[in-house]
Amino acid sequence: MSTTNADILVHAEEGVTTITFNRVEKKNSITTAMYAQLADAFEAAAQDTSVRVVVLQGDVAIFSAGNDIGDFLQQPPATQDAPVFRFLRAIATFPKPVLAAVCGPAVGIGTTLLFHCDLVYAGDNAAFSMPFVNLGLCPEAASSLFAPQMLGYHRAAEALLLGEPFMAEAALEVGFVNRVVPPTECNMVAQAQARKLAAKPLSALIETKRLLKKSQTAAVLERMAEEGQSFGRMLREPAAREAFTAFMDKRRPDFSAC
Ligand code: COA
Repeated sequence: MSTTNADILVHAEEGVTTITFNRVEKKNSITTAMYAQLADAFEAAAQDTSVRVVVLQGDVAIFSAGNDIGDFLQQPPATQDAPVFRFLRAIATFPKPVLAAVCGPAVGIGTTLLFHCDLVYAGDNAAFSMPFVNLGLCPEAASSLFAPQMLGYHRAAEALLLGEPFMAEAALEVGFVNRVVPPTECNMVAQAQARKLAAKPLSALIETKRLLKKSQTAAVLERMAEEGQSFGRMLREPAAREAFTAFMDKRRPDFSAC
């Protein structure tokens, strides 16, 4: 079964639902409409007993450039029901295994959504970055909780305060990704692992994932809500307006007044 909403492709086969970012001309940046499609896809896959595993993938040269900046300028998420937050809650609470295949840049939510995936395979061209401060924003997706846990405080501070990218090998070293492979093989490796999982008993997968996540689930949802409130407020403030306008105008931002 395949659903094509152009920018997000959803394909279900043999228990594996594959969700593909398909907006390569805009570097797979994610619009409000795409967040709604992603949230719908995860919510449907959670309910559908024929779905055992979800795989998220992008293109061989770009995973995702994160939020669509123009779209965020025009329609910043106003409430916790906004599609971006609905998607984040859906992936954070998804009961079945989620895998990601990441090649090329994974910016902002393109990186932070990976904290909610169970297995992550990276092309050797993968570059992960969380440049929220550079955009006048703060972390989202509970990345302020996950990043220090996973990377250690100082590397998390470097990633979140400076917003500099870290590459696939560094991600492997800290356990942020499971394996680094040639980019042309990345989606295939993730699919092969997904098929292995799909052949296992679903009830055992669900219970094991629940137990693995149990000590964190409440804290993750609480942190996501707190981050979301700050993020939504900061989107409307001068620093973010300047950063976003500068990106659209293809110039360097001037934060001297922020
Ligand atoms: N939102 C909206 N449009 C974006 C975008 C984003 N996050 N990222 C890229 N695009 C668009 C560019 O505006 C450009 O559009 P155009 O062809 O109409 O001018 C097109 O995608 C190609 O982007 P470009 O920057 O030329 O590609 P690149 O290969 O040189 O760089 C990135 C790729 C991902 C490193 C770079 O685009 C980037 O840094 N994007 C912004 C990432 C970001 O800050 N995201 C927000 C996180 S909250």
